[in-house]
Formats: sequence, structure tokens, C-alpha cells
Amino acid sequence: MYLVSKHNAMGFQLQLLLQLMLYLSLDQLLCAEIDERIVGGTSVTEKKYDYFVRLRYQGVFLCGGSLVRNNAVVTAAHCVNDVRVKDLRIHADTINLKDKGIVRRVKTVVIPSLYNERTTNYDVAVLILAATVPNANFTAIQLHKTPVAVGTKCLVIGHGMTNDKEQDSTQLQEVWVPVLSRAVCQLMYLRVTRITRYMMCAADAGKDSCSGDSGGPMVCNGKLAGIVSFGVECADPRYPGVYTDISSVYSFIESTLEKYK
Ligand code: ARG
Repeated sequence: MYLVSKHNAMGFQLQLLLQLMLYLSLDQLLCAEIDERIVGGTSVTEKKYDYFVRLRYQGVFLCGGSLVRNNAVVTAAHCVNDVRVKDLRIHADTINLKDKGIVRRVKTVVIPSLYNERTTNYDVAVLILAATVPNANFTAIQLHKTPVAVGTKCLVIGHGMTNDKEQDSTQLQEVWVPVLSRAVCQLMYLRVTRITRYMMCAADAGKDSCSGDSGGPMVCNGKLAGIVSFGVECADPRYPGVYTDISSVYSFIESTLEKYK
């Protein structure tokens, strides 16, 4: 009798332990599924960054972008350099790839003559939409006119990959990364490419943008300060994420917006 009950008690404890282990590993799995998107970021579950748009080309997700006016989007030049404008769509007012949101065609793609496809220098483009996005469905983001101070923590959002191998994230992801000095970044990229004055870098351990985040916003001090441009791998401690420095391409954006008023 005694032996049996002792055995039972142990069995019960073992069961509890197993359940606890299962629970913990499930929790870990779920976190990996839900939270580690962009790379090392978290899911955006409210429409709080409603200047964000995604670009779709020939029916498939392409890149991120930002509404700077009700009919103008800022994105990366490398996203739209080789596209046929008529096959391009922008989706506003959505934080999930499964929701269409507000869809607009693009009238004009403006890529600066300084953009260099080989070096990804001056990686910015302005899209003029065929029709406006209703003011009730978005808030335009202002441009960060001046260079961002080193160490500033900035928000990066996108539907890009959550690590080097995975696919795009269905739910919009956000991550906060500190801005690095350009000199430090140049040193880190010395063997790879030149970090020009039109670029800025940001990174933190295990946190980065990744493929698919391109064209999307980097927001510092509440303003559009960068555009996701390139990197080597994702969240690789040797190579920070590189962003187009909005303050250095500010006059291109402003004059383009003025021209297509
Ligand atoms: N070029 C990529 C894209 O087209 C963005 C890569 C950003 N990479 C990084 N490690 N921060 O989506």
C-alpha cells in the first residue's frame, strides 16, 4: 500500500514536471514564432505606425515605404529601380500581409540620378500615387532634416525576414536600434563596401532589419530619419544594418514633392 502510494506520488510529481517542461518549451516556441520577427523585434498589433505602407509588385510583397503626403511615398530606390509602374501597388492602413488595406496604383516613380545600383549609394525613391489615401486612414510622417545623433534609439518596422533563412513576416514587426557613428560603421564595412555620407548605420545585439524590410522607415525622434537599405546577413555582430540618411537626401525628396504638387 505504502509503496504504491509513494509510487503514485512520484508519478504525479513527474507528471507535473513533464507538464512544466512542455509548457516552457511551448512558450519558447510561441515566442520564437510571434516575437522574433524583423530580427529580434516584436509584433505590431495596433495601427500605431499608420504612415507605414507596403509595396506589392505583380501580386507579391516587395518592400516597405512611408507616406510623407496623402499621395506620396518614400521608399528605397533599389526596391523600385527595375519595376514596371503599372504592376506596382501600395497598401496603406494594414499591419498584416493578409489584409489588403487601402490599395493605390503608382503614377510616377522618381529615382534620383545620384542613385547607384552597384554601390546602393543614394538609395531613395519617391512614389507619386495615382490617387490620394484618405486622411482618416493615415498620418503622414515628417522628414528628419538634420543628422541623427549617435546613440539615438530608432524604430524600424517591416514585414521582412525574422532571421537569415525564414520567409517574410505576415504580421508587421518593430525593433528599436541605436544609431552608430558613420566612422565606426565605415571601419566595420571596410572590406565590403564604402559607407557614404548618404548612409547611416544602426544595430544592437540580435536586433536588425532583414531582407524584405527594405524601403521601410527608420524613425528617430518621431521623424523619418532613415530608409532600410542593405546589410550583410542579418543581425550579424560584424555588420550593422545600413540605412539611407534622410537628412542627406532631404533636398531631393523636398524638391520632388514640390515638383509633383
Ligand atoms: N536589402 C534588403 C531588402 O531588400 C534589406 C536588408 C537589410 N539588411 C540588414 N541586415 N539590415 O529588403
